[in-house]
Amino acid sequence: MENPFVFGEPVRGDKFINRKRELERLKAYILSGRNVILYSPRRFGKTSLILKVIEELRDDIIPIFIDCYAITSREELAEEITRKVLKTYGSFSEAVKRLLANIQASVTIKTEYGINFEVKFSRKSESWKDALDLPQKLAEDRKKRVVVVLDEFQELSKFEGLLKVLRSKLQLHDKVSYVFVGSKRHLMEWIFRAKESPFYNFGAHMVLREIPKEDFKAYIMKAFEMGEIGIKDDVVDYILSLTKCHPYYTQRLCFELWYLGKTKGGVEKDDVDKVLRDLVSDLENSFILLWENLTPNQRKVLIMIAAGEKDLFSGETIRRYNLRSPSSVQSALKKLIEKDIVSKNGTYKISDIFLEYWIRERFIEGKLY
Ligand SMILES: Nc1ncnc2c1ncn2[C@@H]1O[C@H](COP(=O)(O)OP(=O)(O)OP(=O)(O)O)[C@@H](O)[C@H]1O
Ligand SMILES: [Mg+2]
Repeated sequence: MENPFVFGEPVRGDKFINRKRELERLKAYILSGRNVILYSPRRFGKTSLILKVIEELRDDIIPIFIDCYAITSREELAEEITRKVLKTYGSFSEAVKRLLANIQASVTIKTEYGINFEVKFSRKSESWKDALDLPQKLAEDRKKRVVVVLDEFQELSKFEGLLKVLRSKLQLHDKVSYVFVGSKRHLMEWIFRAKESPFYNFGAHMVLREIPKEDFKAYIMKAFEMGEIGIKDDVVDYILSLTKCHPYYTQRLCFELWYLGKTKGGVEKDDVDKVLRDLVSDLENSFILLWENLTPNQRKVLIMIAAGEKDLFSGETIRRYNLRSPSSVQSALKKLIEKDIVSKNGTYKISDIFLEYWIRERFIEGKLY
């Protein structure tokens, strides 16, 4: 039997847990033509969710999925959009005739791995801008709603002037729903909430949170049961208390536990501790590297969070950790958030649960050493 836990790639099919409300909300927004801004810290399941929405709406929409991490210039964004739009047509000549009539681009067909296109826009002209209207043209031509997902959208903000051009085009696309997905909250918030940003108020906001405990628990119990591995209710509770129901880290831990359980026939609390310790020790080198690149104040603030301090700004806490003032906590937090090490979802959290565990073990409880 295949390991029922998945990590490091989007989850699909019956491995996708819950998110029913988010799915319904997203589908409703998309079908009513609204743009959506979806964010969460890293590895919470944004890409999985959006792929699931696309899958469920496949009869009603034409999806275009763009990974903005892979984009290195404004022209390349246009090239990627053009490529993806052309690919939705069965016949290439038909697609070119219907959509590229007034667009100056060089298009080559590649047949190495099935049919693929290479699209190039001149770096010396503005012709790339015309390609940004292709999703709308596609929707008009095929008489079907087009959904453009811009995954990790915040990455596009680094290209000079691009957001402004995008906004001026996208706001006229009434047959296209855009889904802007992002994991850097401070950047996404600036893009969509700052009055001076071109994308101010451009769509409905959605924040993705942890997977609800009961759903995760039911999935884990069933997965172990199917693998004929004994696991008690309270051991699953223990796993979820350690991972705080974080989608990725829970799956990562359960993935290893499942293999261990397969050889032993069952999983106990001690096994959970052991597997977690092994995982953290495998990651230790990367944690040390990260730690070495932090300032003393940033380290202190991380230790405060890992220790579960309730009020990071109280005079008493600040004294206990040898910090100078609330403003030094504030500026350390700001940097940690920019580096994605800490996320703020109501309270401050260390994004990587294993890093948090390592800090606790090493600097607070000192158990490992
Ligand atoms: N609905 C879900 N059911 C089960 N596991 C999930 C779910 N959503 C996310 N996960 C777990 O989290 C991992 C990351 O999911 P995904 O890549 O969709 O997240 P993401 O927010 O897009 O991450 P990134 O910030 O790296 O782009 C998955 O590999 C899986 O382990
Ligand atoms: Mg993703």
